[in-house]
Amino acid sequence: MRYYFLLLFTINILTLNAQQIFSPDKKFDLNFKLVDGKPVYSLNFNKQAIIKESTLGIDLTDQPDFIDGFTIEKIDTSTFFENWNPFWGEQSVITNNYRELKVTLSQQVPDKRILIITFRLFNDGLGFRYEFPQQNNLNYFVVKEEHSTFALSGDHKTFWIPGDYDSQEYTYTTSLLSEVDATKGANFDDIVTKNLPGASYIQTPLMLKTNDGIYINIHEASLLNYPAMYVRVDKNNFSLQSHLCPDAVGNKAYLQTPFTTPWRSIVVSDKAENILESKLILNLNEPTKFKDVSWIKPQKYIGIWWGMHVGTMSWNYGDLNNVNLKTIDWSKVKPNGMHGATTENTKRYIDFAAKYGFNSVLVEGWNVGWEDWFGKWKEEVFDFLTPYPDFDIEYLSNYAKEKNVKLIMHHETSASVTNYERRMDDAFKLMNKYGYESVKTGYVGPIIPRGEHHDSQWMINHFTRVVEKAEKYNICVDSHESVRLTGLHRTYPNWMAAEAARGNEFNAWSNGNPPEHETILPFTRFMGGPMDYTPGIFQIKMDYYKPESKYQVHTTIAKQLALYVVLYSPLQMAADLIENYERFPDAFQFIVDVPVDWSETKVLQAEPGDYIIIARKDKNSDNWFVGAITDEQARDFDVKLDFLSADKYEMTIYKDAPDSDWEKNPMKYEIEKKIVKKSEVLKLKLARSGGCAIMLKPLK
Ligand code: NOJ
Ligand code: CA
Repeated sequence: MRYYFLLLFTINILTLNAQQIFSPDKKFDLNFKLVDGKPVYSLNFNKQAIIKESTLGIDLTDQPDFIDGFTIEKIDTSTFFENWNPFWGEQSVITNNYRELKVTLSQQVPDKRILIITFRLFNDGLGFRYEFPQQNNLNYFVVKEEHSTFALSGDHKTFWIPGDYDSQEYTYTTSLLSEVDATKGANFDDIVTKNLPGASYIQTPLMLKTNDGIYINIHEASLLNYPAMYVRVDKNNFSLQSHLCPDAVGNKAYLQTPFTTPWRSIVVSDKAENILESKLILNLNEPTKFKDVSWIKPQKYIGIWWGMHVGTMSWNYGDLNNVNLKTIDWSKVKPNGMHGATTENTKRYIDFAAKYGFNSVLVEGWNVGWEDWFGKWKEEVFDFLTPYPDFDIEYLSNYAKEKNVKLIMHHETSASVTNYERRMDDAFKLMNKYGYESVKTGYVGPIIPRGEHHDSQWMINHFTRVVEKAEKYNICVDSHESVRLTGLHRTYPNWMAAEAARGNEFNAWSNGNPPEHETILPFTRFMGGPMDYTPGIFQIKMDYYKPESKYQVHTTIAKQLALYVVLYSPLQMAADLIENYERFPDAFQFIVDVPVDWSETKVLQAEPGDYIIIARKDKNSDNWFVGAITDEQARDFDVKLDFLSADKYEMTIYKDAPDSDWEKNPMKYEIEKKIVKKSEVLKLKLARSGGCAIMLKPLK
């Protein structure tokens, strides 16, 4: 069902300076005015200031700025309502309802120029963007900096990672806004490519909490043909200033009218649960223009992958350090005996996927070039076409087809993006030929074109080109080390997931992710869209593989299971080695049963940095699933089952044992089956960094 109505009003009173609109439920009011010719907005929630008077504007390199000297030409207001159906996601119907204020401003510099600022006020917050219409006195222009300000009402509690032009793979620091120090927060030697603009720059999605318990989330929506935005903290005024990722020569964006910037989003609620349920960012994105989406399918996958991260397998086939793709004769290279992507191993994974109903198998290290892929900033790295001698792509694609399993392609670009651009068509044709329907891309290292950043305009356009081209070949994309998502999966539903944050892999080879990490991610990185976090690690401590290793996943097994419900992605991996799943078949059953596409989602209890409990209903059955996770603190919860649709359910609960503990006893769990009623209250006991995963099947 899809319907909408649009009411338009135009106010042509040039003298009318101040403007106010209310959200459809009247809880928010947005105010706009010109102060000394500068655009100023403010936002209140229940009459309480969320954003105090804040200026807006954009600096250009080669022409007068869009900062001041404005008069109001025209003001349009309208109301919009629609219910739309995402092809996959956390719920089958999304309501998009807002009140819009469109302010047309003019400037004489000395000739007349026009800038439009559009505000959309929803029941869960605000979006605004700049629009440069086609006009006589503005055609090509270069953005030097955007000056969007977010003047906050106090020294809020802030969940932040350092602003970095090339990485989001940090752990979160929780501090007061005035205590932000990105240099300290970036004190990691496990991040490959770091580029910090300075100590006061932090990333979005940014999560804040006021002293009176108001939750505020700041991000952006529909990031297209423009660099990613960070914010600079002004500690004296508790205000945030937008900062755009620069390109190789220090500019931000090369544009031509007509152009609209991405939306700046501010999601606000007095309940943390509502922040996680907000669909504001998705709603600010354009509906898809794809005509056929039947080939886009949510999927659960396993892969030849974790072995490389824990060090029992290698991506590379031989041990060489001077690989020249043009001259090497791979048939003469001596195998190192550790290569993971062999025909035999891949067959084993295909068999396992078929046996347990997984849709697909990712195989990394299938293609030549891994001997020398990293750290050289070289142009020619991979050709994305040539398998290693021990990977029989034709045989395996037929074998997978017989078993009704798809192979997932892997394109590690090594950040040589020009190389990938040249080879993408051939690479996608090879995928079509061998029946691959999804690709995991990767961008490890400093970018080529040299001097560009992972988040600069050129790269944003690259990521968009990849998903647009992939659509031509009916291919779904999971991008690693890409820009973080901004709800673009509404427009490009084949961009199913991205990494763009610190994933589970860090636990294999570094100090990893602290117990609270997954209780913050949904409030930050996931606000923009699905993450390929790769949950499901059962062998928690790494000394199992290397006796000297002190590394471990900071979790219990029950928490790993709960992550399948808590961390939403339509492309969800069972990341551990299949041998480890065979050791714990009863716990593995939950991963086998849990869906990746939902008709309803209810966030039952949540607090950023502490705990999250989410209930979701399967899109293809009447089963409900619940996931509960906690940080380093053990916690007890009462969970009301009144969200259930039917009265009686058979419940299977996967929980921490009384003596489970992420440090001392992480692999202990209990599984219980019983009948429960909608009227009941469940008592959950979560261990330190523990969790609980529940499946509920309705009974007649
Ligand atoms: C980093 C990715 O996040 C990881 O999943 C992948 O295995 C390696 N790069 C190699 O491409
Ligand atoms: Ca990564």
